[in-house]
Amino acid sequence: MLPVSLVAGSAWIGSEGITTMKALVLSGGMGTRLRPFTHSMPKQLMPIANRPVVEHVLDDVRRAGAVDVGVVVGDHAEEIERAVGDGSRLGLRLTYLRQDAPLGLAHCVLLARDFLGDDDFLMYLGDNILSDGVAGMARAFAADRPDVQLAVHRVPDPREFGVAVVGDDGTVLRMEEKPQDPPGDLAVMGAYFFTSAIHEAVAAIRPSPRGELEITDAIQWLVSAGRPVRAVEHTGFWQDAGDIPGVLRCNRWALDGTRREIRGWVDESSVLNGPVVVEPGARIVRSRIDGPVIVGARTVIEDGHVGPHTSVGRDCVIRRSGIADSIVLDDAELVGVPGLHSSIIGRSASVRPTDTSALGPSLVIGDHGRAEVRI
Ligand code: DAU
Repeated sequence: MLPVSLVAGSAWIGSEGITTMKALVLSGGMGTRLRPFTHSMPKQLMPIANRPVVEHVLDDVRRAGAVDVGVVVGDHAEEIERAVGDGSRLGLRLTYLRQDAPLGLAHCVLLARDFLGDDDFLMYLGDNILSDGVAGMARAFAADRPDVQLAVHRVPDPREFGVAVVGDDGTVLRMEEKPQDPPGDLAVMGAYFFTSAIHEAVAAIRPSPRGELEITDAIQWLVSAGRPVRAVEHTGFWQDAGDIPGVLRCNRWALDGTRREIRGWVDESSVLNGPVVVEPGARIVRSRIDGPVIVGARTVIEDGHVGPHTSVGRDCVIRRSGIADSIVLDDAELVGVPGLHSSIIGRSASVRPTDTSALGPSLVIGDHGRAEVRI
């Protein structure tokens, strides 16, 4: 761990008279690496252990002590609003901030200027999943109040991330966005703490070669101005749920934290091993479930083998089929297909064997979809 000073307790927001912290959750963007799903839903609603990614993020935000949360939304604004509403279900007050085009993370800060005022804030990327939340980081920030506090994580290949060069005392010396020749192995994670100093920086920078106002450039602007920018190292789980392997990895991690809870109906000939969650109205018949697994409400599993590391959404049917290390979204059906693994099956999708008289496999697959079949 890089050196950080942690303060005990949670005396962070207004009641203790220290300061209030808002949060900005970024849920816009294109989600191109998660096609075909993002043709019809925002990536922040991909289910991780049967809950949208952004709900995991909002839980972390609440645990860190923020209540007033600005949610930046793009083309899929309505679906996100439908899913998380005004936030009261999650103990938050949400304000939606519309971004007409994904012009960059620093652009999100610019457009949220009125909402944020001069308050300190936590900016959390709506597709990041991390263990242990950000409450400890919030306490470290409150104790020190540098202009910026970043979270960093060591990765073998940081070329897909922002990269920070950090001194022995945790001071950030340099930042680069997606460098081809990385100056170190500390990737910038999606949880940033800012004082109002960031507003001057985001107003000063110009778009990067990829046409975005990069938050990395705004932070580098503060570093160059000699302002205090610090990093804390996160050593637990961290994953950007922005592509298919990333989503499956997040799902595996989240399922590892589940506990057995049977609220649906399981017949006597079924075998359930390990942490298995069966939601209300689900039915497990003559099947084997190897946890960790979640079976969504009203789903039927008959003569099936599910798991490990699989979450099945609501109102699905899995009959005479096997699936492991996968995510099945709501209303999908698998009938007569054993041995599926590492798969994500979209909403209302159907997977069945071909007719015995068919010439070969027959696929009806969405734009940018991908199927790997043994022929
Ligand atoms: O995941 C960590 C990485 O996130 C950092 O290491 C990088 O420094 C940072 O630039 C960012 O890189 P990405 O290329 O992965 O960001 P992405 O485009 O996936 O956007 C992150 C989140 O912000 C995602 O939930 C979509 C949302 N977003 C993105 C843009 C560009 C917006 O809401 N508006 C935007 O304009």
